[in-house]
Amino acid sequence: MTAAAAMPLQASSPRAPRELLDVRDLRIHFPTDDGLVNAVDGLSFQVDRGHTLGIVGESGSGKSVTSLGILGLHEGTNALISGEIWLEGEELVSAMPARIRQLRGSKMAMIFQDPLSSMHPYYTVGDQIIEAYRIHNDVSKTAAIPATRAGKAGDS
Ligand SMILES: Nc1ncnc2c1ncn2[C@@H]1O[C@H](COP(=O)(O)OP(=O)(O)O)[C@@H](O)[C@H]1O
Ligand SMILES: [Mg+2]
Repeated sequence: MTAAAAMPLQASSPRAPRELLDVRDLRIHFPTDDGLVNAVDGLSFQVDRGHTLGIVGESGSGKSVTSLGILGLHEGTNALISGEIWLEGEELVSAMPARIRQLRGSKMAMIFQDPLSSMHPYYTVGDQIIEAYRIHNDVSKTAAIPATRAGKAGDS
């Protein structure tokens, strides 16, 4: 990521899961016929539990490539990924794809940019978040409501 900025930056111990998300020196490069595209080039940031982080940057600065990288959605592409992504003390860049699939939708999720294709227009956003939570957690809708409001992750 060249122009996008993620704040605040702070030093922290390597494996202590104090942060919910700890991205360290993340690099995501794409070999192309025109050369290597350094879409994300040494990005580090942390997000503490219960906090919200906005990443801003001009179009093409690497926001989407970063988000897809955290979710493991470059798997199976020619993306070259290095650095570390720690989610609650678990490192994701080196994790097996099957483990990332378990975490996706339970501990991490992404609402894609185009709301008409990523969200169903007939259901509330809350209902759709609850639906995703219930796919990973065998609970009633009533039980899922407070859990999703509290930002609780599932067990997997
Ligand atoms: N699969 C890919 N192959 C080559 N370049 C890519 C690929 N995906 C994204 N890029 C490039 O990476 C850069 C960052 O893109 P992106 O993360 O979509 O930007 P943003 O979301 O900040 O607008 C852009 O230059 C884009 O063209
Ligand atoms: Mg984008």
